[in-house]
Amino acid sequence: MTDKHHGRLTRDGIRIHGAEDFSGMYRAGALAAHILDDIAAHVFVGQTTGELDRLIEQQVNDAGAKSATIGYKGYKHASCISVNHVVCHGIPGDKKLKDGDILNIDVTVIVDGWFGDTSRMYVAGKRSRKIERLVQVTHDALMKGIEAVRPGNTFGDIGHAIQAYVEAQRMSVVRDFCGHGLGRVFHAPPNVLHFGRPASGPVLEEGMFFTIEPMVNLGRPETKVLADDWTAVTRDKSLSAQFEHSIGVTADGCEIFTLSPAGRFHPTWD
Ligand code: MF3
Ligand code: CO
Ligand code: CO
Repeated sequence: MTDKHHGRLTRDGIRIHGAEDFSGMYRAGALAAHILDDIAAHVFVGQTTGELDRLIEQQVNDAGAKSATIGYKGYKHASCISVNHVVCHGIPGDKKLKDGDILNIDVTVIVDGWFGDTSRMYVAGKRSRKIERLVQVTHDALMKGIEAVRPGNTFGDIGHAIQAYVEAQRMSVVRDFCGHGLGRVFHAPPNVLHFGRPASGPVLEEGMFFTIEPMVNLGRPETKVLADDWTAVTRDKSLSAQFEHSIGVTADGCEIFTLSPAGRFHPTWD
C-alpha cells in the first residue's frame, strides 16, 4: 500500500512534513498568490463579485490546477468574497461593488495535490482613512503572527501576538473562525487561533504547515452566520478585514508560501 502522506504526526495530530514537501507548497501557494495579484485590476465600482469569481475560476483552470472550494461541503465557487461587514465565507453573486466598498478575496487552489490558501483585502473606488487603517492593521496583525513562528514557540504565542497588537489599536479579533493546518489536505489540525495566551497550545516544530488568517473588526468581535449557512457577518454591522497566508515552519523561523510573486505589498493600493 502506498500512502500519499509522508512524515510523522505529533501527539496533537499535526503532520510534520519533509523538505520535498515545501516545494509542493510553494507551487500551490505561488499560484493562489498570483491569482490574487491579477484580480486586483478587476476590482472597481460596478463590478460584481460573481464576475470576480468567474475570472478566478478561469485562472485556476488555465493553470491546470483545481479549486479546493468548489464542491467543498457543498460550496459552489472558486473563491469567497466578503464585502464590508462580511467577516468571511461571503458567496460571490450579482451584487455590484459600490464606491468605498472593501472586500476580502480568499482563494484556495490544489496543485499536484498540495493546497495553497491565501486571502487579501481590496477596495472599490475611494478609500477613507478609516478603511486604510483597518486594512493596514489587519495585514500587520497577520505579519506579527508570522513573526512569532519558529520552532519552540507555541500556537498560543502566535495568537497572543495578533490579539495584543490588534487590541492595542482599539480594534477586535474575531474568535469564531481560525486558521488551520493544511498540506495535502485543506483543513487539518491544529486550529490556529488568532488570540490566546503566550506559551499555551502545541509547540511549533519544523515541517508544520498551516495558515494564519486573522479577521479584524472595527467594532465588536461577535459574528453570526446568515441563513445561507456560509456568510459570516459582524453582529454589530461594523467593518471587518482579513488577510491569510499559508506558511511552513523552518529550522529558524518560517517560509511564507503565498507571498505575492509580483512582489506587491497588499493592501492593493501599494
Ligand atoms: N479558504 C477558506 C479558509 O481560509 C475556506 C473556504 S471554504 C469555502 O479556510 F467552502 F467556503 F470556500
Ligand atoms: Co484558510
Ligand atoms: Co482561505
